[in-house]
Amino acid sequence: HITLKPFPADFLWGAATAAYQVEGAYLEDGKGLSVQDSKNHSNAFHDTSVTSDHYHRYQQDVALMKELGLKSYRLSISWPRLYPDGKTLNPQGVAFYHQLIDELLKNQITPLVTLYHFDHPQALQDAYAGWYNEQMIDDFLRFATTCFTEYGHKVSYFMTICESNNVVLYPDLIGGVPTGIDVERWRFQVNRVMALANAKVINCCHRLLPQAKIGPCIGYAIAYPATCDPNDVMAALNEDEFRTFYPLDLLCLGRQNPTVINYFSERGLDIRLAQDELDLIASAKADFIAFNYYQSDVAKYCSQHQIQTQPKFNLAGQKGRYVYPQFPGLYAGASNPYLERSDWDWEIDPVGIRLACRKLYDRYQLPLMITENGLGAYDELVDGQVADDYRIDYLKKHLQQLQLAISDGVPVMGYYPWSFMDLMSTSNGYNKRYGFVYVDRTDTDLKTLQRYKKASFYWYQQVIQSHGQSL
Ligand code: BG6
Repeated sequence: HITLKPFPADFLWGAATAAYQVEGAYLEDGKGLSVQDSKNHSNAFHDTSVTSDHYHRYQQDVALMKELGLKSYRLSISWPRLYPDGKTLNPQGVAFYHQLIDELLKNQITPLVTLYHFDHPQALQDAYAGWYNEQMIDDFLRFATTCFTEYGHKVSYFMTICESNNVVLYPDLIGGVPTGIDVERWRFQVNRVMALANAKVINCCHRLLPQAKIGPCIGYAIAYPATCDPNDVMAALNEDEFRTFYPLDLLCLGRQNPTVINYFSERGLDIRLAQDELDLIASAKADFIAFNYYQSDVAKYCSQHQIQTQPKFNLAGQKGRYVYPQFPGLYAGASNPYLERSDWDWEIDPVGIRLACRKLYDRYQLPLMITENGLGAYDELVDGQVADDYRIDYLKKHLQQLQLAISDGVPVMGYYPWSFMDLMSTSNGYNKRYGFVYVDRTDTDLKTLQRYKKASFYWYQQVIQSHGQSL
């Protein structure tokens, strides 16, 4: 038992979305295609053309944010809306985000802007394979610089690249590995290019906007050993290092993890970065670490000789078992018998968020922001109401654990549940909903697109109003 500390006075009570998952208008006002638009075009549950129609209804949506009492809203800026071909600025795209940000400010909602949320211009993918190529660094810097110069006097919080670690682990998130390229080589190269781009963008932000705060973002599924067999404990350490600490050490400390260097070297890849690259990366000082937390993982010993299967998301668009990853010589994923699961087999682990905060702060000594946390579920609209008590239960338990982490002494700047409103889930379309606000549509039927406040909306409203005391 410890004495609970209150949430900090300036705590950012937020909620999050991402451009390609809510905006729609995928080809309007000069916008170019993103890799998400191309990837999802032919697939009903991944169709980005309308999604939640936020592009046309942002005023109504911001009014709902205001009613919810949000102090902050995490949005992402669509790169191909600003730079349709990756090179030429589209003034109409620039104007849209001015309007959206102005609307937020008019309603006293602080914007937190994600610069990259999986949606680079398809043109850059076609031209040189996107993040696999170093040319991406300058193109991303050009886009980010425009965001800083255009919106910097209105926005004080920026995130660079969303979940760069998961992008590297799950290449399908950003359009897959181009044919003929070895997946491990792709992983290493994308990680390197993203780390360099992240550093240049952070330095640029600090130069142009000394008052702004900017940080990288990772998805953190903290790893537990399957048993107290030291080999399993080693496997859990390997997973944490491989999935989370390797990229974050690079982004926040400018150093590479030796275990991971060895893992690749045994597979014929020298992933050591040049000294000038490490110096550049180390020169960029993040102001905070943003992390997305949904679930924890279990790791068990996996010998060099076990057969490797590629880790996969459940892309079935419906309930189905999660496929656990295997990295021979490092770890293999497993299920956790102590935890309940969501409709999509994601393990529900509120204590894990406290552990994650403790581990990250212990290692990096940087303030944290939880920029995603939430429960994807089948919600049902009945007589204009959604009784999502399961979501309230999930969020409440996670927030209680977050308050414990704060009481442990971890500086936490804000909490952004995923998601403000229903949106096109990255892996499961509109079957799987996360929002406080229900959007009336399915994967195949746009219906009315009308908004309905769920039970969780009223619950979160109370939490914010009471500054967490109602928890
Ligand atoms: C995060 C992404 O990794 O997970 C979001 O940043 C995504 O874009 C969220 O929506 C939940 O995943 P999913 O596949 O259930 O939508």
